Amino acid sequence: MAKRLTHNTLIIGNWKMNGDTARNEVLLSELLPALSNLKGVDVVVCPPLPYLSQVVHLLAPSNVVLGAQNLNHQTAGAHTGETSAGMLVDLGCHYVLVGHSERRAFHGEHDEWVAAKFAAALGAGMVPVLCVGETFAQRQVHETESVVTSQLNAVLQRVGIDQLCRGVIAYEPVWAIGTGETASPEQAQAVHQHIRQWLTLQNAKQAADCRILYGGSVNARNAEKLFSQPDIDGGLIGGASLDATSFIAVCVAAQR
Ligand code: 13P
Repeated sequence: MAKRLTHNTLIIGNWKMNGDTARNEVLLSELLPALSNLKGVDVVVCPPLPYLSQVVHLLAPSNVVLGAQNLNHQTAGAHTGETSAGMLVDLGCHYVLVGHSERRAFHGEHDEWVAAKFAAALGAGMVPVLCVGETFAQRQVHETESVVTSQLNAVLQRVGIDQLCRGVIAYEPVWAIGTGETASPEQAQAVHQHIRQWLTLQNAKQAADCRILYGGSVNARNAEKLFSQPDIDGGLIGGASLDATSFIAVCVAAQR
């Protein structure tokens, strides 16, 4: 296995469909001072689309970076209600989530569509965060590795290994999202190791450097053990990113 680069740990807060202008301001006024002295951690927040402009201004004096939760893969045109990668860049986004399981399950996003979004995000200069993960039923019948591999493979076929590893991979077991049920550090590490080995088959150097985050009920109590696993390079945080005390604790636990 190639020697791994020592990246900063990456923590991404996915606010999902939560917040309003007043609450966003309060949350960030509590978060930003506490996050300013973190060592070895990069922090990103992904507010809902209507608040990107508000949040980019609030983040301006800080070291926290803006991300979006979704994009359309096309550049412009008659796509009512959609947002292009170029628009997100124009608003100050550096990261964008693609293929979150909530979008796969409730908005019909299939692997090829996710791959097109990944390519569009990279093409516009953003870092796509590719979410993969199995349902509880799939885990029960030992399909975790095949599900994750086929989700990754769709993006690999579209963009190749160099581009895939310019993005970030987030392993989010569907059964652990918003349920309070976290994968144990050992369960999460096993899947992360599988992902790393699969990447290694494509290109050992790229695999060693590729960042793989864990998401699914990460909180102040379980973060440190998860982040200390050798193939877990950070976290994608839902519920706990909406509470300043919890999110600060998760970010502190991520310090190397
Ligand atoms: P929770 O942390 O609320 O389980 O959500 C995880 C998630 O879906 C982040 O994208």
